Amino acid sequence: METLIELSKKMPKTELHLHIEGTFEPEQMFAIAQRNQVVLKYHTVEELKAAYQFTNLQDFLDLYYQGMSVLLHEVDFYDLTMAYLEKVHSENVVHVEIFFDPQGHLSRDVPFDRQINGIYNALKDAEKKWGMTFKLIMSFLRHLSEESAFDTLELSKPFLHLIDGVGLDSSEVGHPPEKFLRVFEACKDLGLKITAHAGEEGPPEYIWQAIDQIGVDRIDHGNRALEDDKLIEEIKKRSLTLTVCPLSNLKLCVVNDMKDHPIKTMLKLGLNATVNSDDPAYFGGYMNDNYAALIRQTGISKEELLQLAKNGITGSWMEDKQKERYLQELTSLFA
Ligand code: HPA
Ligand code: ZN
Repeated sequence: METLIELSKKMPKTELHLHIEGTFEPEQMFAIAQRNQVVLKYHTVEELKAAYQFTNLQDFLDLYYQGMSVLLHEVDFYDLTMAYLEKVHSENVVHVEIFFDPQGHLSRDVPFDRQINGIYNALKDAEKKWGMTFKLIMSFLRHLSEESAFDTLELSKPFLHLIDGVGLDSSEVGHPPEKFLRVFEACKDLGLKITAHAGEEGPPEYIWQAIDQIGVDRIDHGNRALEDDKLIEEIKKRSLTLTVCPLSNLKLCVVNDMKDHPIKTMLKLGLNATVNSDDPAYFGGYMNDNYAALIRQTGISKEELLQLAKNGITGSWMEDKQKERYLQELTSLFA
């Protein structure tokens, strides 16, 4: 088991499901709060960490929006992003595709340019320093209206050259993908890739909508696809990647025990499951911790570990040449 964990640390990895606002470590949150003279509801790092006990997605989101409220200036977005990139660089993550939630900041009068410039400049600096490549995904908050998503898309237009795709996140149940049908059509027309959180808490029907109505390029989470055999076949037919987040699933009670995590079942069914950290500062671990938890508790084999890492490469939006290079590196490492 320990040798598999060592191998998982050495593998070149991609992160395909990561909310940059979910990488806010309490220590950094308090430092930036102090710098910006923002008062947090929690008085100490310990008090804040003690609140990280969630029974569902909404419990977490309530805290997540409070946390991001200290982000005001471009440098705050830069520092947050750079801290995450430094961390995952040390874990052999070679390519990241990260979400940001513009509406979570626009609602506090933090303009779009400050957000995206801070995040993008950190990504660019990481690319220069370490050759770490990236894609940036603007995510719409699904508890808000489609009109608000359209307004956000409009604000993003001067920055579209920095944005690779769009996503859909926040409170899932009651906010199905079809609510955003027209805005995703507009995004597609602009040449953006499309992904959506579906089947984390929401029913298989929401995954069907994401595929059939929205025409997503990828599915975020997708756990509840396993309840519907026809849906499983459809996902396979379209070779869609699922960005699975094991520690997130445990913390948000999507699974009750890591031993019962369905990732092995997904692989056995031939689904392109990948491993990702979602909101690592809130869920107890970054990429390597997610792999270690799976290795320790679900007993994934060396072959399954390799398959997960390969799926992370093939399911990414990087160029084919780059994919081939990392797939070869993985093959040599596992030989
Ligand atoms: N699900 C939905 N919305 C989110 C998440 C998540 O796991 N993390 C941040 N926003
Ligand atoms: Zn997510």
